[in-house]
Amino acid sequence: MKKIVIGIFTLTLLMHAEDMLFTKGQMLFNKYGCYGCHGSNAEGNGDYPRLASKPKAYLIKRLKGYRDGTITSNRANIMKPFAKKLSDKDIEALAEFLSKKIYMNEQPDEKYYEEFLVGDSSGS
Ligand code: HEC
Repeated sequence: MKKIVIGIFTLTLLMHAEDMLFTKGQMLFNKYGCYGCHGSNAEGNGDYPRLASKPKAYLIKRLKGYRDGTITSNRANIMKPFAKKLSDKDIEALAEFLSKKIYMNEQPDEKYYEEFLVGDSSGS
């Protein structure tokens, strides 16, 4: 009986491991203020790329690139100080969270939307 209980417990833990990584990533996204540039839904904003729903492996590669200095450009230099704070585990969690995060571009109300259309010039 004890073994079964432990078995079920372990299984539950395994099933939650991915969820936990997602939650950790979400927490880090807020803690490090990533939303300040990339948007609170990671939807991107002008010069700041969308992160939501991008492939996990790609996000990991990019974040390590900024952190380890293999990606360099003026724009990458904006990103660098934030990537520098991240451990491999942080990057894994952030990438898990961002890749699973559904791309939601918050629909503003109609009046705002009209103004938005007039001034729309983004497109990255
Ligand atoms: C001060 C603004 C700023 C903050 C804060 C910021 N970023 Fe960025 N980020 C950028 C810019 C600018 C780029 C584009 C750099 C480039 O062109 O290579 C970028 C690029 C990225 C990319 C690559 C996207 C792609 O499509 O190639 C990832 C992933 C990323 N940021 C994740 C994060 C995470 C995670 C955080 C929080 C730890 C964060 N960023 C905080 C400005 C910021």
